[in-house]
Amino acid sequence: MAFSLDPWMAQHLQSVEQSLEGFLTLHAPAGSPWAAPEDLSQAMRYAVLDGGKRLRPLLVLAAFEAVRGAPASALDPAPMRAACAVELIHAYSLVHDDMPCMDNDVLRRGKPTVHVQFGQASALLAGDALQTLAFEVLTPLDDSVDPAVQARLCALLSRASGRVGMAGGQAIDLSSVGLALTEASLRHMHQLKTGALLQASVMMGAACGPASVATMQALEAFGQAIGLAFQVVDDVLDVTADSATLGKTAGKDADNDKPTYVSLMGLERSRAYAATLAGQAHAALQGSGLPDTSALAALAEMVVHRAH
Ligand code: IPE
Ligand code: IPE
Ligand code: MG
Ligand code: MG
Ligand code: MG
Repeated sequence: MAFSLDPWMAQHLQSVEQSLEGFLTLHAPAGSPWAAPEDLSQAMRYAVLDGGKRLRPLLVLAAFEAVRGAPASALDPAPMRAACAVELIHAYSLVHDDMPCMDNDVLRRGKPTVHVQFGQASALLAGDALQTLAFEVLTPLDDSVDPAVQARLCALLSRASGRVGMAGGQAIDLSSVGLALTEASLRHMHQLKTGALLQASVMMGAACGPASVATMQALEAFGQAIGLAFQVVDDVLDVTADSATLGKTAGKDADNDKPTYVSLMGLERSRAYAATLAGQAHAALQGSGLPDTSALAALAEMVVHRAH
């Protein structure tokens, strides 16, 4: 039967939203020593819930299903925890990315940014707490996730988020304002700041199911290609889409004098490069040895052809 992305996404998005809501709800009774400050919890919920394409969770679940050869079910808590953990890290990265000391943005996911709504100190702390919550989610205090899988998921996510991943890429981004980067330097920056977390999403999904070394290598190549393609398209959309469609302020890269694929090679070549990367992603899937990679393939197409 031909695969249809829309119903697959609708079903998985609903599960992701429910799980995120659950992880962002503090179960400690009010007044207990473990009750979190209410405004911090509110800022965290605001940053994560009600918005976002949830591409990273969808990649986790699609990769898990591809290696498992069956749909994810409630009996498999690891992939859903992995999916939510990646989204929490992503949401934290957006909160900090928008702050005045970074991109200074006032609109995100169609709403005022967290620092506009709650103040800078709360935005900083909400980002911090979302980051640690991601690792809480990966390490449940019951035996519902195999400890070896927990360790593997933490290893993948921490590396993709830190100095050789997202945070490192963001540091390069900030120090590159006003510079004309070479293509190699720009690719490196994009791979770190955005590609690493998307690639980790794929690898984390696969790490929840049995996958051979060859399959993991193929998925690593798939994740690398779509990870870079994603930021190339983000650069394109910043120029071609409007703020209402994006849910964030269009034209910010040029305003902030950021080096992007569009500033380096123009719109047409950037679009062509994203298509080339999508081709590399599909080739990697074909070499993966996996019998059904329809959802991953459809998500790769979504990365390149999305409107926001
Ligand atoms: C935006 O990511 C930030 C980048 C890494 C380019 P998304 O476009 O996935 O943002 P949401 O999650 O849908 O809001
Ligand atoms: C941000 O890249 C990547 C992150 C790590 C958040 P951008 O600065 O281009 O993301 P947007 O365009 O603000 O979403
Ligand atoms: Mg930025
Ligand atoms: Mg930004
Ligand atoms: Mg951008």
